[in-house]
Amino acid sequence: MRPYRMQTLAMTLDEKVRRTLVDLDVTDAAGVEALFAEVRAAMEQERSSIVSRGAADEAERAKVVKDLRDRWLARKNGILSFIDEDWLKKAPKEVKPAVGKHFNTLRQAAARLEISDLLRDFRWDGTVEVAGQQLKLSGGSVTVATTIVDLTLPGNRRPQGSLHPVTQMQREIEEIFLNLGFRIESGPEIESVYYNFDALNIPESHPSRDDWDTLYINSQTVLRTHTSPVQIRAMEKYGAPLYIIIPGKCYRHDNPDASHSPMFHQIEGLAIASDITFADLKGTLDFFARKLFGEKVRTRFQPSFFPFTEPSGEVAISCIFCGGEGCRVCKESGWIEVMGCGMVHPQVLRNGGIDPEKYSGWAFGLGVDRFAMMKYDINDIQLLFQSDVRFLQQF
Ligand code: PHE
Repeated sequence: MRPYRMQTLAMTLDEKVRRTLVDLDVTDAAGVEALFAEVRAAMEQERSSIVSRGAADEAERAKVVKDLRDRWLARKNGILSFIDEDWLKKAPKEVKPAVGKHFNTLRQAAARLEISDLLRDFRWDGTVEVAGQQLKLSGGSVTVATTIVDLTLPGNRRPQGSLHPVTQMQREIEEIFLNLGFRIESGPEIESVYYNFDALNIPESHPSRDDWDTLYINSQTVLRTHTSPVQIRAMEKYGAPLYIIIPGKCYRHDNPDASHSPMFHQIEGLAIASDITFADLKGTLDFFARKLFGEKVRTRFQPSFFPFTEPSGEVAISCIFCGGEGCRVCKESGWIEVMGCGMVHPQVLRNGGIDPEKYSGWAFGLGVDRFAMMKYDINDIQLLFQSDVRFLQQF
């Protein structure tokens, strides 16, 4: 079938039935079929819009029904009469049989436009069905707003999101330890005082138990202040040897400012096996720092104190902004403190059901938010938790 000429395309049905098929450029059977399909569709559409529209009274109903019937079936100037005269009678020989066949089918279908037939289907109780609901008409007619949907328009795109900078940093750190053979472990954010403090050898008098640092739910339950309680949970669950990292949210009674947030993220590391030494801790963390920040980065270990490690250390890395020369970020020291660590305290191993005579281990804990701030040069931790798309879009 040849495509319609634009001119033909723009014609209304009423104009088309007053032209010959040759004028309409319909020259083969497929063209005839398409043309009759168009007529049939128009007919069905007009019929259904009439019978479902309702009418104010019997007189109006009689009129719309008769108008529709006459438009299509009137002997003189009805659409079918034009088709008979202009299409069928004047059809070129080659397409005449096709025109005859389709015209017959159309005539049969058009019987439904006889007045008795229309009246039977006419919803004349004054209700119309709109989107599956019966609506009662008050006036003589109702206008139903129809949305014309242009299927060729592009769809509404949902803007694609991206991973939060903290998530990106967490995954990067996880990746390094996964490659070293560590597994990822997790534990509850609502934690018992036992796991959060007692089992970690943190005495009743320790300042971190104070209301000022810890968010208590009740006397026995807290929002965990660090990821270390999962050390105990994992020891109980798996025993030794154990190589895990524990990423997760932690909570402290801190006022939000540029470097504090009452909710923050930590990653805990724990390695337990026979003959684990401080050298393993140093070597692992040194390797980790170079993987994350580049080969040039150096690590520094200074003595510190945590109740659950002995000895304990504070790890600093050479400043990634100035390379150790001294700058505003490292406060001219050349070093940035990044985590606490140490050899797991024998009592902590015992509390986790592991024999300290057979096994030893190391642990560390770092703040993921701080790492993300360093890596992406973010100067205010609050930015990470304000969900401002203009900020988050940059990562
Ligand atoms: N839990 C400690 C903290 O939150 C960090 C830490 C973890 C220190 C493991 C030593 C060993 O500050």
